[in-house]
Amino acid sequence: MIPHLSERALILAPQGRDAEVAAAMLAEAGFLNFACRSVDAMVAEMEAGAGFGLITEEALRTADLHALSAWLGAQPDWSDFPFILLTARGGGLERNPTAGRYLRTLGNVTFLERPFHPTTLVSLAESARRSRRRQYEARARLEELHALAADLEQRVEQRTAERQAAIEQLHEAQKLETLGQLTGGVAHDFNNLLTPIVGTLDLLQRKLAGQDARTDRWITNALQSGERAKTLVQRLLGFARRQELQSAPVDVAALIDGMRDLVASSIGPAIELRLRRARDLPQALADPNQLELAILNLCVNASDAMPEGGSLTIAAESALIGPGSETKLPPGDYLRLSIIDTGTGMDPATLARAVEPFFSTKEMGRGTGLGLSMVHGLTAQLGGAFMLGSEPGEGTRADLYLPVTQDRADPDLLATQSPITDGPPRTILVVDDEELVRKGTAEMLRALGHQAFEAEGGAEALMTLAVIPEIDAVVTDYKMPRMDGAELARRIRVQRPNMSILLISGYTGTADPVADLPRLNKPFGLNELAHALHRACEPVDNVVPLRRA
Ligand SMILES: Nc1ncnc2c1ncn2[C@@H]1O[C@H](COP(=O)(O)OP(=O)(O)OP(=O)(O)O)[C@@H](O)[C@H]1O
Ligand SMILES: [Mg+2]
Repeated sequence: MIPHLSERALILAPQGRDAEVAAAMLAEAGFLNFACRSVDAMVAEMEAGAGFGLITEEALRTADLHALSAWLGAQPDWSDFPFILLTARGGGLERNPTAGRYLRTLGNVTFLERPFHPTTLVSLAESARRSRRRQYEARARLEELHALAADLEQRVEQRTAERQAAIEQLHEAQKLETLGQLTGGVAHDFNNLLTPIVGTLDLLQRKLAGQDARTDRWITNALQSGERAKTLVQRLLGFARRQELQSAPVDVAALIDGMRDLVASSIGPAIELRLRRARDLPQALADPNQLELAILNLCVNASDAMPEGGSLTIAAESALIGPGSETKLPPGDYLRLSIIDTGTGMDPATLARAVEPFFSTKEMGRGTGLGLSMVHGLTAQLGGAFMLGSEPGEGTRADLYLPVTQDRADPDLLATQSPITDGPPRTILVVDDEELVRKGTAEMLRALGHQAFEAEGGAEALMTLAVIPEIDAVVTDYKMPRMDGAELARRIRVQRPNMSILLISGYTGTADPVADLPRLNKPFGLNELAHALHRACEPVDNVVPLRRA
């Protein structure tokens, strides 16, 4: 509002010379005046802005006051428009019966009886103007408050939305975490049970081979089921991030090249397979066997989504992750391995749940719903990330972000396991607190031509080693009460620095530097045990250093 308008005096005195006189007095005192011809004209001016109104009683007596009343009634909270009412000559307020009516209509009104002294008028005018100024100040405050409130409201809305999104994300993460812990515990126990089952079946097969065709078949069937159970348990452990990872620098381009035939045969001829590997690809730090499994899982998913055929691309390239990335990864260099299909894709609801363990849209018995869970758990455990993007009808893209390393890949780790070479017979101490596993492992070692002693804990193992100096290798469980396998290895190495030690483990325990030992994951078969032992017994210099995830 223009300041001079907002402070001017509106004078309504249509009869006589009162208006002129009052205007002259106010003008002399420095007030800007405006003479109005009628009540309605005055209301229009009030609307435009004014400091106060000076009205003669006669001007109101016969006039229609509805518009004025309405305007005054509709004033905003901060406004209480002030009036000075010049009452009739010789008619003071107490003797004026209509004054009450004016009081009700005008509200904030001061009566001034004529004749009046100019000083009285000017001082009343000044106080009316002051009161109006205070109202303007109140208006400014209110406007500030409104602006603040609006801003606050907007911020609250924004924060509420952000909070809601964060809570949802947290719930999702907590759900996966809780499921991970539950499945991890179950899988771990299951794994321990499977070890003697698979081991014993393996032994039986060796012992009874060729004696009776039916028995052979039974054992083969049982072993096959055992293998399936092992895969399942491994996937569960993978999801729970409790897998024993043997991370090493991996040449991902070579790894996917090596998988070409396997993938091609599992997806069938109707799907075109494309491999895209960027040049100068850095080495990824990963467990090559688990990574192969993850790629295979994703390829099988892709192929399931393309029953009519399509194209499947496996791509590997460098990816620079900046701050605040969707992957939630710390900024840095990564290797992105993508499996892209042109299949059915997923609707948002399926996509949101796809990684959940046991979530599957496949018919009963066809999908465990653990494929993506395993991939998710593996990348997380490797210090990478797994991102899934999909649109119905547009296909699916799965991105695995893997940490990179400057170290060189060890070609041996990629080589498929060579046939079993038993090596020279050894004297081996098997340490495990679980009798079934210990006895089973010892039996397997004997079947491989070695001599096996048993100890049910770290202390007993150290004693046995002291009394039987011929023992030249130790196969020990990792997780044992009182003294774990890593601690036992440390103590053995103090006495016998060159002792070959093989650590058997069901899942990743605490990070332990001495745990840079050859390992074997439970459950294992005869072949795996033989290979692991072979690696453990190589001269120390030749042992590939195994890295922790
Ligand atoms: N490439 C894909 N295209 C379309 N849908 C997919 C794709 N990959 C996964 N899905 C959806 O996500 C679900 C979960 O996948 P996940 O691999 O975890 O389990 P699964 O494939 O159902 O079972 P399993 O892997 O044990 O065979 C699938 O059932 C499917 O609905
Ligand atoms: Mg799957």
